[in-house]
Order: sequence, then C-alpha cells, then structure tokens
Amino acid sequence: MVRKFDVVILGAGAAGMMCAIRAGRRSRSVLLLDHARAPGEKIRISGGGRCNFTNIHASARNFLSANPHFAKSALARFTPRDFLDMMEAHRIAWHEKTLGQLFCDESAKDIIRMLLSEMKAANVVLELQKQITAVEKTPDGFRIVTSDGPVEAGALVVATGGKSIPKMGATGFAYEIARQFGFKIVEPRPALVPLTLDPNLLEKLAPLSGIAAPAEVRHGKTTFREALLFTHRGLSGPSILQISSYWREGDDITLVIEPDLDIAAILRAARKTNGRQAAQTVLAETLPKRLAQFFAESRGLQNTHLADLSDKAIDGLATSIQSWTIRPAGSEGYRTAEVTLGGIDTFELDSKTMQAKAVPGLYFIGECVDVTGWLGGYNFQWAWASGHVCGEAL
Ligand code: FDA
Repeated sequence: MVRKFDVVILGAGAAGMMCAIRAGRRSRSVLLLDHARAPGEKIRISGGGRCNFTNIHASARNFLSANPHFAKSALARFTPRDFLDMMEAHRIAWHEKTLGQLFCDESAKDIIRMLLSEMKAANVVLELQKQITAVEKTPDGFRIVTSDGPVEAGALVVATGGKSIPKMGATGFAYEIARQFGFKIVEPRPALVPLTLDPNLLEKLAPLSGIAAPAEVRHGKTTFREALLFTHRGLSGPSILQISSYWREGDDITLVIEPDLDIAAILRAARKTNGRQAAQTVLAETLPKRLAQFFAESRGLQNTHLADLSDKAIDGLATSIQSWTIRPAGSEGYRTAEVTLGGIDTFELDSKTMQAKAVPGLYFIGECVDVTGWLGGYNFQWAWASGHVCGEAL
C-alpha cells in the first residue's frame, strides 16, 4: 500500500526541519526525508561547532538575489527574535560575538536537539538514509519514489539545499526538480569561498601563508571590513569570503590592510621623530612582522632608513599596503564554499509562501532558492524564515 501524507519535505536541514515543525503544528501529517545519516549536518558543523544561527541585523540588504525584494516578506514574518524565542523556550544559551552574529554558548547540537524535539511534538515523521529516485505530479498532488517505495502527498516541499560541500551530502537535486518542472534557475556558483591565486603570485605571497590582518576588501562599490587571511592556496578570512559572493572570474579586488590606520601618516611621523629606523621596523609596529618585511622588500626598501625616503616613496609604500589590487585566479569551489549563490529563480515562487506559481502544491525553501546571505548568520535566518512561511502555508 502506498503511504500518504499531507506534506512530504525533501531535505532535513535547517529549512526543511523548520518547515516540518510549522506544518506539523498546524496538524498536517508530515514526512521529512533525507538521504543523510543524520539531520541538520550543516547546523552541527557551522560556526566552529557553535552555529552562528542568526544575525540581529538581518534584512533583505544582507542577501544577494536577482530579485533583491523577494526575501523581504519571509524575513519580516519570521525574525531573529522569533528564533531566539524558540531557543529561549528550550533554554539554549547564546551570545553575540561580533557584528550582530549570534552563536550558541555551548554547542550547535543544542539547536539540532531543539528542532528534533519540536518535530516530535509536531508528530513529524523523520526518515533518514532514503534515496529519492523520482518525483512525479499526480492529479491530487505528488508521488515521490524512494529507496523504500513510493509515497504520496498533497504538497511537496523541496529543501535539499545547494551544492556546497558535496562530502557532506550536498547535491544539486533541488535544481533537477526545478528543471523537471521547467523552472528557470539562476546559474549556481560557489560563494562565501576562499579565493585562489595564479602560481606566480602564489609563489610571491608564499611567505605570508598563515598571516591574518584587519582589512577592507573592495570589489566595485561593494566593501567588507573584516579579517583577511593569507593561505597556501590564496586568500581567505571573513572579508574574502564575503567579497567572493560578488567577485567574478577576471575581476580585480582591492585590499586595504589596516583600514583604520593611515600608514603614510605613520611613516612620515616616524621619519620626523626617528629617521634612522628602517621602514619595515616602523611597519612591524602595526603589521605582523612578516607582512611588514614583505611590503618593504616588494618596494626594495628593506635596508633603507626612513630619513632617506621621499614623500613619494612613502606614499608608494603606503599605497602598496592600503590599495593593493589583486586579480584572483578562481575560488576553492564547492569543496569549501559555505553556500551556493543562485538557484531556483525567485520569479517562479510566491514570496509569501514559497509556492511555485505554475505548480500549486510544490514549494522550494532554504538555500536552493536564489537568495544568498552574507557571512554572519544570515543564511540560517533565511532557512528558518523561508521554512517558517512555507510551513504556515501548507
Ligand atoms: P541544508 O544544506 O542545511 O540541508 C539540505 C538537506 O538536504 C541536507 O540534510 C542534505 O543531506 C539533504 N539532501 C541534499 N540532497 C539530497 C537528496 N538528493 N536526497 C535527499 N536529501 C538530500 N550559515 C549561517 O547562517 N551561519 C553559519 O555559521 C554557517 N556556517 C556554515 C559552515 C559551513 C562549513 C557550511 C558548509 C555552511 C555554513 N552556513 C552557515 C550555511 C548554512 O549551513 C546553509 O545556508 C543552511 O544550512 C541552508 O539550509 P538548507 O536547509 O536550505 O540546506
């Protein structure tokens, strides 16, 4: 006998679980299917094990999408405060780290436990390690063919996420379903991802591997002021991950190291007070030593006293540090990307419910939709909010 549910949700990640809770609470019979061994694996590993579960400043301006207005409705109807109410009802302690980013005090697993307990209370049936082989439209709804046989549902919610970190079970399944129904897809690409450099530049920057510094990273009019990290593959750190969502192959980015300081003014002042110092000695008072040495050597100034530097030479050195243009070669790709940019074109969906306009009963939520947040808890907030509004509509 074919099992029947009001709702089948594919993907037991952040969005799928939140949607299941809302729909279950509204007395819908809900089956939540996932091919992974455990639910919410990305929640578990996020934020260094403490999950940056939301951002108190979340608004549509923190998201990239072909339609920047699409996320507004869901974000307004399920806010960071709503998620905090849920956390507090489960006595999960949290703190703000920086820039409005909220983390669990103890462990990301507390959030998974909370969602599982809410699902249990809402009578959601969770089935893991199920392969989904086909999805078909029927006159009454949908038929989902799984490794355990077919299931039927009046409504189908696709919450299988994006392609980031295939090792953790990420697939492009949501895009396949969207294509099957003839929906448009905004070309997916890895985002919030370290950028790589061509071999020549990488060799030049090899001595800097492992160094972090405060920076502002610019791409066109977009800027992010957060830490920058030099790695053995290229550039990483929050500022680079943020800009990677805007960067495209062939584009330059500009690095401003120590953006709160005026390096030229510091060098000039030091030339006046103690001109016998080497430039790199003065730079090393504000920059990591290896970085100071690197910039001085790149300008051939490693043994030059400040007193021997003209204003022009000082400005040139300062510019190399605070207006450093680099053309990344590429990115580390889906292997390390935190999210997938692009996805199901929001034009296909109703922003209040996430339902497909052309196929009633079919919904897409979470990361598979063309709504991608900045680094800092925004992507989970989108998963919670889109899952919530969908669950309320089922
Ligand atoms: P999610 O990917 O969470 O869930 C999709 C589910 O579908 C998975 O359980 C998967 O197994 C399942 N699935 C996929 N294909 C399937 C198939 N073919 N059949 C059956 N099941 C299938 N965001 C943030 O806001 N704060 C943070 O701290 C972090 N940190 C972070 C760290 C790392 C390392 C990564 C990779 C990502 C983050 N993120 C983040 C991003 C965040 O994890 C992400 O945006 C959300 O998990 C998206 O939620 P979804 O439910 O849409 O997809």
